[in-house]
Amino acid sequence: MPSIDDEISRRRTFAIISHPDAGKTTLTEKLLLFGGAIHIAGAVKSNKIKKTATSDWMEIEKQRGISVATSVMGFNYGDYKINILDTPGHQDFAEDTYRTLTAVDSVIIVVDVAKGVEQQTRKLMEVCRMRNTPVIIFVNKLDREGRDPFEILDELEAELKVNVRPLSWPINIGAKFKGVYNIYENTLDLFTPDKQKVSERVEIDNVNDERIDAAVGAQDASKLREDLELIEGVYPEFEVADYLAGKVAPVFFGSALNTFGVKELLDCFVEIAPSPRPIVAEEREIRPEEPGFSGFVFKIHANMDPNHRSCIAFVKICSGKFERNAPYKHIRSGKVMKFAAPTAFMAQKKSIVDEAYPGDIVGIPDTGNFKIGDTITSGETLHFKGLPSFSPEMFKYIENADPMKSKQLEKGLQQLMDEGVAQLFVNQFNGRKIVGTVGQLQFEVIQYRLLHEYGAQCRWEPLSLYKACWVTSDDADALAAFKKRKHQFMAVDREGRDVFLADSSYVLQMAQADFPKISFYFSSEF
Ligand code: G4P
Repeated sequence: MPSIDDEISRRRTFAIISHPDAGKTTLTEKLLLFGGAIHIAGAVKSNKIKKTATSDWMEIEKQRGISVATSVMGFNYGDYKINILDTPGHQDFAEDTYRTLTAVDSVIIVVDVAKGVEQQTRKLMEVCRMRNTPVIIFVNKLDREGRDPFEILDELEAELKVNVRPLSWPINIGAKFKGVYNIYENTLDLFTPDKQKVSERVEIDNVNDERIDAAVGAQDASKLREDLELIEGVYPEFEVADYLAGKVAPVFFGSALNTFGVKELLDCFVEIAPSPRPIVAEEREIRPEEPGFSGFVFKIHANMDPNHRSCIAFVKICSGKFERNAPYKHIRSGKVMKFAAPTAFMAQKKSIVDEAYPGDIVGIPDTGNFKIGDTITSGETLHFKGLPSFSPEMFKYIENADPMKSKQLEKGLQQLMDEGVAQLFVNQFNGRKIVGTVGQLQFEVIQYRLLHEYGAQCRWEPLSLYKACWVTSDDADALAAFKKRKHQFMAVDREGRDVFLADSSYVLQMAQADFPKISFYFSSEF
């Protein structure tokens, strides 16, 4: 039987992130194909929400059933156990993605060769940088016309603020795309545009092998040699340690749709990507191989059946072995709980598991005990840090539209906030509740779910704010003076922390200039 150390070292838990349409779903599907988790392309129904349907909540509701199944996709590949954590493509759900990133050990970023680095990728990379998450970049759609690969590399470095190192190199792109030279393994793969079949591999000894000329023509072979020489001159030798430290991102080129360059990516990924890493809790650092079990809730998927208030809490296992029906402590409530029906996610199927290891995700059916960020352990009091909330982008006052149902509204709102759908602030001046979100869609989601799951009705009232920022100071008098001066714009978040509601960037700048002793934070992790 494999030891717990073996189980840990063979696990690779990661997320694929991209700007919508770059090819995340397609790549995920191809990885599942290689893992034997699915057998035909097209089997993965994306949980992405159609870009056109920005206000079509019904569409989202339909997709929620699908998205639980694809939230975590586990499969075996050779000796490795791979867990892919899916992230929503729609930017209004960016907070969900940020939280998912706290539960992964590494990330693959997909970039469209024609479009380069797009806005959402830039933002997600910031989150990876904050945590030094190792990143591999896959430049996709080489079968389409796109940009010069050197230009793409420069852009990746400039825009994602990370050093890059190509580990494969394309021979032409678009209509003339002939294949990819794998720098990491010194192999050459020829491109055959076929959605189901893996390409042809040419046996070569090194880059000067004449078989390259025979396969792609003398002209392209000589261009390849020039390019590779340039790469060796410009980019330092690839060091796995630098990748693991988040200092350099290896880059692969390929075409997910054509299953081209994907296997190379996967083979390199399992070899170099980290197994579960130690996690810093408030109390101490937790190593995965420790005997005591610990894990945290990074996602809650709620109310699949509106008649039974049921949710699934997704727990990332950080240390020790998780066992079904073992008594575990829910740190926030202090309660000891046993989980009779934890589910694992293998090959897109949910099934009850008896045990799971660090790096794995288990789904725990819940009826409202769990909140995003909660820790469960075999007894030790631990709090995992680092599920950041960012300042919302949009704000509205929420009002009760059915006075007979104020209790339901209150309860529904609390639970939705526990799930992390949005953030709630209470204005200290007028006592009104403010809901802050990253996108318009969340307001519709909240209104719909309050009505359908809690029987409560809400009404939104406009509120024009630029940002909500958390404020602290070492100087109690300075903080008191600030709060007094800004009393109309002060609120508290759900943890009771002080939040300043800035209605314009000018007001915020002035406040920062006028109150140098006050620290302003734009994420709740400080
Ligand atoms: P996403 O999850 O990042 O949003 O992207 P997704 O995989 O859905 O891919 C977006 C579109 O790009 C899809 O086309 C997909 O077929 C296409 N695509 C992905 N990889 C490649 C590639 O290597 N080459 C080319 N040429 N296209 C690629 P669609 O028409 O929007 O959707 P569909 O109807 O084909 O599913």
